[in-house]
Amino acid sequence: MTKENTNRGRFIVFEGLDGSGKSTQIDLLCERLKKEGRSVVKTAEPTMLTTGGIIRDALAGNYQRSPEELSALFLADRIAHNVNPKNGIINLLSEGTDVVCDRYYYSSFAYQGMDCDIDWVIDMNIKCPSVTKPDVCFFIDVPTEICKERVDKRGGFREIFEREQNTLERVRAKYAEVFRKLENENIVLINSEGSPADIAKVIYSSLPQFAL
Ligand code: TYD
Repeated sequence: MTKENTNRGRFIVFEGLDGSGKSTQIDLLCERLKKEGRSVVKTAEPTMLTTGGIIRDALAGNYQRSPEELSALFLADRIAHNVNPKNGIINLLSEGTDVVCDRYYYSSFAYQGMDCDIDWVIDMNIKCPSVTKPDVCFFIDVPTEICKERVDKRGGFREIFEREQNTLERVRAKYAEVFRKLENENIVLINSEGSPADIAKVIYSSLPQFAL
């Protein structure tokens, strides 16, 4: 029998609509974990690897990709994110580092699931041996009007999935469908009412139930 690696880091994913305030919560959680003396790495998808660049080109509308191509590119990026020998998720977790990731396969299920066969997208990600299952996923649930206001305020260039409020509504509904469908995943819905500090407390205090 192999001995379990009890020093493995935790793999924590944040999901939510564009403008949901994920980044603030990710920063607050990373700070808190570091204060506890844990080693923590903050990361995101799409990545800064070559595959992430190809994806960003498509998201910016510079290069048109079919929904299936985009799903496959996100999966390729996720595999690279996991296995890359320098700072890949698999290595970090095994050396005891907590990995906090802004978006992961739940985004593929919700966004690519709108335009492709959702079960195909779910299967290829969940069944891929190089794609680590998160220990927990926090979904920051914010009304779409608020997300839209924040995205509008940010200004700048909008990506293909950020444009309209009814797109945000569709994505939110798709996330809900995905969460109903998924068994065996630890998903925590976070109500966005309250200050960022209060929300951060709820997130932090729920972590021990997902300790390894
Ligand atoms: P980005 O601006 O990088 O991040 P965020 O909106 O989280 O601040 O946008 C990433 C976009 O990519 C976002 O609109 C969701 C989309 N996306 C997918 O469609 N599928 C995926 O698998 C992932 C990880 C992201």
